[in-house]
Amino acid sequence: MAHASYILISFLLVVVLNVAKGQPLVPALFIFGDSVVDVGNNNDLLTIVKANFPPYGRDFSNHSSTGRFCNGKLATDYTAENLGFTSYPPAYLNLNVKGRNLLNGANFASAASGYYDPTAQLYHTIPLSQQLEHYKESQNILVGIVGQSNASSIVSGAIHLVSAGNSDFIQNYYINPLLYKLYSADQFSDILMQHYSTFIQNLYALGARRIGVTTLPPMGCLPAAITLFGSGSNECVVRLNTDAVNFNKKLNTTSQSLQKSLSGLKLVILDIYQPLYDLVTKPSENGFSEARKACCGTGLLETSILCNKESIGTCANASEYVFWDGFHPSEAANKVLSGELLAAGISLIS
Ligand SMILES: *[C@@H]1O[C@H](CO)[C@@H](O)[C@H](O)[C@H]1NC(C)=O
Ligand SMILES: *[C@@H]1O[C@H](CO)[C@@H](O)[C@H](O)[C@H]1NC(C)=O
Ligand SMILES: *[C@@H]1O[C@H](CO)[C@@H](O)[C@H](O)[C@H]1NC(C)=O
Ligand SMILES: *[C@@H]1O[C@H](CO)[C@@H](O)[C@H](O)[C@H]1NC(C)=O
Repeated sequence: MAHASYILISFLLVVVLNVAKGQPLVPALFIFGDSVVDVGNNNDLLTIVKANFPPYGRDFSNHSSTGRFCNGKLATDYTAENLGFTSYPPAYLNLNVKGRNLLNGANFASAASGYYDPTAQLYHTIPLSQQLEHYKESQNILVGIVGQSNASSIVSGAIHLVSAGNSDFIQNYYINPLLYKLYSADQFSDILMQHYSTFIQNLYALGARRIGVTTLPPMGCLPAAITLFGSGSNECVVRLNTDAVNFNKKLNTTSQSLQKSLSGLKLVILDIYQPLYDLVTKPSENGFSEARKACCGTGLLETSILCNKESIGTCANASEYVFWDGFHPSEAANKVLSGELLAAGISLIS
């Protein structure tokens, strides 16, 4: 413990020194995945899974709804700040001009996508395989601007963050008889692992050497999941949490073997399960007063287009709530989670 806090303190010192020089700790930050990290790539897609209208973003610095599924910042926004960046990696699909604005990274994430491409196809969003194509495009643009050798060092020094799997379960497996009648949750996790493994190998082949992957959250504690799958109870749904824990174990072992087989790769699992579970089960210890209901609307179900400015019941102060909408943490909760990501991610930088 003492050792861990020593590392944390020396790390923070490095951050402070670098940030003071106006120099981020890594050249760039590239982000892939689902609504946990999407900053607006879905805005112009023909999908219902969007968040580019109020009250989304109401507590953001400029009070604008960017497409983030949150009242304010995402955990990865805090990560970008912690790394010393002065702006967030832009939503790749929203850039009218793609050029120097990609030098510090980009965000390719699309809400309702996952490791399993059919999940994104169900909602007309961008599957991970396509996000990778967008990443390739952006690498070619980088080469055009700074040349092959500089572009390669940007890519190999960059941190790549991946958040996926939530939508594969919640927006697909649990509600899709074509899947849940065919596969147990364990078998479905194995399928996701194959896709995960391919995705990491493809990222590696494109030059990525520092990759952080978030675990599944306690899916059974998300307000909408309790409403939908909790059989009238107000408690976290044990079955869904068990599925998340099993998935996370597989993620861990799969990552360990990837790390062994891909030389020079730093692959770190960023645990959000435990910290979010702690917030839900002990909200007051962390300064929150409500963890069952989300802030937006009734707080029992609403997300995306159902969480809008006509929603009745939206809370006044989202900082008291662990969840902003039925599926997504509030900015205040994201801030806590980002601290955990930082602690887990230190080995990516050192
Ligand atoms: C608000 O800030 C975000 C993040 O910096 C930016 O992407 C967005 O364009 C801004 N919105 C407006 C209306 O200025
Ligand atoms: C490549 O990086 C070097 C060293 O940082 C720099 O001097 C040079 O200008 C860069 N080349 C281009 C084309 O940006
Ligand atoms: C997997 O879990 C073990 C034990 O909890 C942990 O020490 C290890 O760091 C984890 N591996 C990865 C790749 O996160
Ligand atoms: C909102 O709630 C947080 C957390 O309880 C509290 O610190 C803050 O003062 C509140 N803000 C307002 C405007 O009441």
